[in-house]
Amino acid sequence: MAEIRIRNTNERISGEENVKAFLDKQEVLYEHWNADKLPAELKDKFTLSDEDKATILSTFDPEIKDLASRRGYLTWDIIALSDATPNLDELLKKFEQVHTHTEDEVRAITAGKGIFIIKGTDDVGYFDVELEAGDVISVPEHKPHFFTLMDNRQIVAVRLFIETEGWIAHPFADPTFQNA
Ligand SMILES: [Fe+2]
Repeated sequence: MAEIRIRNTNERISGEENVKAFLDKQEVLYEHWNADKLPAELKDKFTLSDEDKATILSTFDPEIKDLASRRGYLTWDIIALSDATPNLDELLKKFEQVHTHTEDEVRAITAGKGIFIIKGTDDVGYFDVELEAGDVISVPEHKPHFFTLMDNRQIVAVRLFIETEGWIAHPFADPTFQNA
């Protein structure tokens, strides 16, 4: 289940209801899928064949279609990152810059872990959302954020898009960014 860490105060928020209430206030969508639906051999696999990806998408097809119909997403795919990903460190360096998009950024984690770092309201500042399998998040359009891996450095997620164009990252230079 997702956990929040507020960077200014190091306060942690856990428990689905608390996390959801906090993220609601920050206009970040948070939902949960049953990650146990995934076949056992895919729960800990981070180098995926096209067939594996198709299996993940079909396993969560009802959840994907439900989310897409409520929120207008038209396309989706699977992203997998791990130490087996070529140039992972370079990729992460690129990811770890505060940026915005013109559409929301949706990720449903199906294996592994990851963190979104998001700029909250002025009273909160930057906060981390630590995500694990089953967690679904949507960072609203124009909200400064970035994504990175956690210590285990492996994740599989479904990405949903309104149009793939919207996912271009626009750098957001922010002197108030708390890099810790
Ligand atoms: Fe992003």
